[in-house]
Amino acid sequence: MKLISANWKMNLTPSQSVQYLQKFLPLVEDVRDREILLCPPFTSLCVAYEILKDKEVKLGAQNCYYEKKGAFTGEISLSMLKDLGVSYVIVGHSERRWIFGESDELINKKLTACLEEGIRPILCVGERIEEREAGLTFKVVETQIRLALSGIEAFTDSIDIAYEPVWAIGTGNPATPEDAQLVHAFIKDLLYILNPKHEGRTRVLYGGSVNPQNASHFMAKRDVDGLLVGGASLDPEAFAKIVKSF
Ligand code: 13P
Repeated sequence: MKLISANWKMNLTPSQSVQYLQKFLPLVEDVRDREILLCPPFTSLCVAYEILKDKEVKLGAQNCYYEKKGAFTGEISLSMLKDLGVSYVIVGHSERRWIFGESDELINKKLTACLEEGIRPILCVGERIEEREAGLTFKVVETQIRLALSGIEAFTDSIDIAYEPVWAIGTGNPATPEDAQLVHAFIKDLLYILNPKHEGRTRVLYGGSVNPQNASHFMAKRDVDGLLVGGASLDPEAFAKIVKSF
């Protein structure tokens, strides 16, 4: 099933999140043929869990730590997230990589921990503008995926991947659907090389300046299995339009 997900990033307080859900849920009540995922900040997970408990809309987190518990001030474990009904975690978002210095090694540990805990990770990959201009898009994406999945290639059926070119995030300048399709097809070929057994079981989402106007153009591409939406997902009406746009 296609996966349409919202990454609210560091936006919306718990009370704003409640208002959001009150507006959003009626708008997508009749949607059955695609999975809808909301990834609010940690502080809104509790209120969102209470509201979404008996709903089809899934709850995700934007980050996690890989250790099970202990002296890791400020971090959140996967069992804490699971207890709040979280079924997905975004791992390796470019903002985590480039603002908070997350390494491929750390991302690999987080993915491994997600698989152990039974929470489905959405691994984010994508090139920066200078890498794109140097013709390195495919190489960068391949390296990020190979390092992230190192030692866990047997579990590619339990992971989704989001292709989010860094230069397209929050810029209003998305990749063209054609360019996204090329990278998505490349990612699927790479997944096949890593684990031919699970062909087609990893969804590849596109993220980067998706909005209600362009969403259906991405979703029309063969290898685009869903979307990861930032800015436009903060408006419940806009996000509902994106969910229903194809
Ligand atoms: P924007 O949709 O704001 O470009 O953000 C995309 C993103 O980073 C989703 O994870």
